[in-house]
Amino acid sequence: MTVPSHNRKRVLSGMRSTGKLHVGNYVGALENWVRMQNQYECFFFIADWHALTTDYADTSKVKENSLEVLLDWLAAGLDPEQSTLFIQSHVPAHAELHLLFSMITPLGWLERVPTYKEQRDNIQGKDLGTYGFLGYPLLQAADILIYQADFVPVGEDQVAHVELTREVARRFNFFYGKPSEVFPEPQALLTPSPRLRGTDGRKMSKSYGNAILLTDPEPVVRQKLKTSMTDPARVRRTDPGNPDLCPIGDLHKIFSSPETMAKVNHGCRTAGIGCIECKGWAADALLAILNPMQERRKKYEENPKLAWDILEQGSAKARIVAGVTMDQARASMGMSLDYESPKNDPPPSKA
Ligand code: TRP
Ligand code: SF4
Repeated sequence: MTVPSHNRKRVLSGMRSTGKLHVGNYVGALENWVRMQNQYECFFFIADWHALTTDYADTSKVKENSLEVLLDWLAAGLDPEQSTLFIQSHVPAHAELHLLFSMITPLGWLERVPTYKEQRDNIQGKDLGTYGFLGYPLLQAADILIYQADFVPVGEDQVAHVELTREVARRFNFFYGKPSEVFPEPQALLTPSPRLRGTDGRKMSKSYGNAILLTDPEPVVRQKLKTSMTDPARVRRTDPGNPDLCPIGDLHKIFSSPETMAKVNHGCRTAGIGCIECKGWAADALLAILNPMQERRKKYEENPKLAWDILEQGSAKARIVAGVTMDQARASMGMSLDYESPKNDPPPSKA
């Protein structure tokens, strides 16, 4: 097995195992990851422990959800020959580093993470007053620092977590990192993600039921767009509209050719085209992206063992890289396993 060498800048990112991905996940993250593969040494992982921080009560879907995420990754073009694809729970050193970090992290740092109180109080039907939920961003810090990553591509909502990661790295280095620091401070790479609303006009999300999945077959895609909301000002065919205020307009901006985009812009604003026609073009453009993905996915759907093998090999590689960092971390804390004879040891007897 070849262990990744560290001469290219290293990228690490993860996704919670939430099951099948949607078009928003693609334009907000995956598409960007696929592009980064040949420029950086990439590690991408499925954060199945992170999924447990909110969904601990029923774990029956965790594994299946991880597999679905992986299949969508492969479908979108993540390439196990180029990138290390792995699953968090199979690199147990993440948990060890998380534990070490938990010793040096003031509670206030975690309580101050912007999403913490908000989510704890607003996610219905789950008790998120748990230790694991509070520690979620610290586990994320361990995920990142254990690969000594240079860059972490994330969306806006995760930037505070990368900031915390940098503070934890600094604190560890301050306590134990003399003479040379163990954890370089990673940088967040904000994914430039265009606005993409779901079919009801809210942010696209599986839990809102407004998402178009990467696996949706053509008739489903067409149907979802057909019933999607549009610019509310376009009540009748003769009312002019504004693509900037329409989820279908979002899709055109991302997936359509400049020619189509021009037709939409002009036609919508002058009531020269109808929404049905416009939605058809959006479906065509979207399907031109989804069809090849679904084609690539087939091979793994028919033989999921192929996909698991990829995760297994990726996780083995990740364990080696993570192991090297853990050796450094333990040594810097004076806790390595190497035996050092105490000063007053009797000299070894000559047998
Ligand atoms: N918290 C991230 C999310 O919800 C997932 C994640 C876990 C992650 N560990 C990470 C992302 C490390 C980047 C780096 O999307
Ligand atoms: Fe939306 Fe297209 Fe209708 Fe304009 S014409 S409101 S962009 S669906």
